Amino acid sequence: MMDYQSILNDIHAHVISEKDKGTVASYIPELALIDINNFGLHLRTKNGEEYGVGDCNKPFSIQSISKVLALALAASKKGSTILNRLGVEPSGHPFNQLALLEIENGIPRNPFINSGAIVVADIIVSLFNDPKVEFLNYVRNLTGDDNIHYNLNIAKSEKETGFRNYAAANLLKSFGNLENPVEEVLDYYFMQCALEMTCQQITKSFHLFANKGKCLFEKSQLSEQQAKRINAIMLTCGFYDEAGEFAFEVGLPGKSGVGGGIVALLPDHYVITTWSPGLNKKGNSKLGMLALEQFTTKTQLSIF
Ligand code: DON
Repeated sequence: MMDYQSILNDIHAHVISEKDKGTVASYIPELALIDINNFGLHLRTKNGEEYGVGDCNKPFSIQSISKVLALALAASKKGSTILNRLGVEPSGHPFNQLALLEIENGIPRNPFINSGAIVVADIIVSLFNDPKVEFLNYVRNLTGDDNIHYNLNIAKSEKETGFRNYAAANLLKSFGNLENPVEEVLDYYFMQCALEMTCQQITKSFHLFANKGKCLFEKSQLSEQQAKRINAIMLTCGFYDEAGEFAFEVGLPGKSGVGGGIVALLPDHYVITTWSPGLNKKGNSKLGMLALEQFTTKTQLSIF
């Protein structure tokens, strides 16, 4: 039997002693206020054992981690038709890059770069009368936890400063790849990104990807094929222009957010979430990546 708790404790002790913790994101002004010294790590095995350390029960802004849950919701309603409007190739460029979108006629490379996530947001806005409430309820149901909320200050802060996302949405609109008004789609998208969750809640919400599409309560939310495919997109696109490096160091499908969270999973085995707000130059949590590299190295549990 692996002693997961002492492995997590060792990683925690090692990682928080690092001097260079990266840089907190400041392009969303409200995110810059967070204390860089937060560090949380939470693991849940497929059969329900849970292990946590540090700030694993403190809510933080999940940001781009929400893109995976939004994709799952859209795929569960629309199936593979969403692929008419989106690719599944890594972009090799930062998450907010615009040049490829122009060159490739408004079809985003994948659903995790911002332009792709804005297309998914448009699909969700078309599907529901109240998309913000529907998305929140979807995540609460996956997690079995009603104590999950949007942070309205963070949504407002990004709405006031998200100029590149407005540019991306306008480009999508000009190519005919946005059904709803730019303002309406981004109003939803900024709120979706401003969802706050703890490491433990994120770990629970991602159980469906480690469990062939069935959530914590064994309800089928995605087909096995959809779960397999979303894991593949996490592996190849979850860390933008650092997806190769993450596969190389950690070896798991996963997703990062500029709030400093990273969730990663080994299908049929476990989900693990880290939170450390300091980011590296590619916008992924510096200590989070280090912690996950240590976890898969110490446990020898990666997809490779
Ligand atoms: O759209 C944005 O820029 C943010 N709401 C989310 C970006 C993000 O989390 C990128 N991930 N590392």
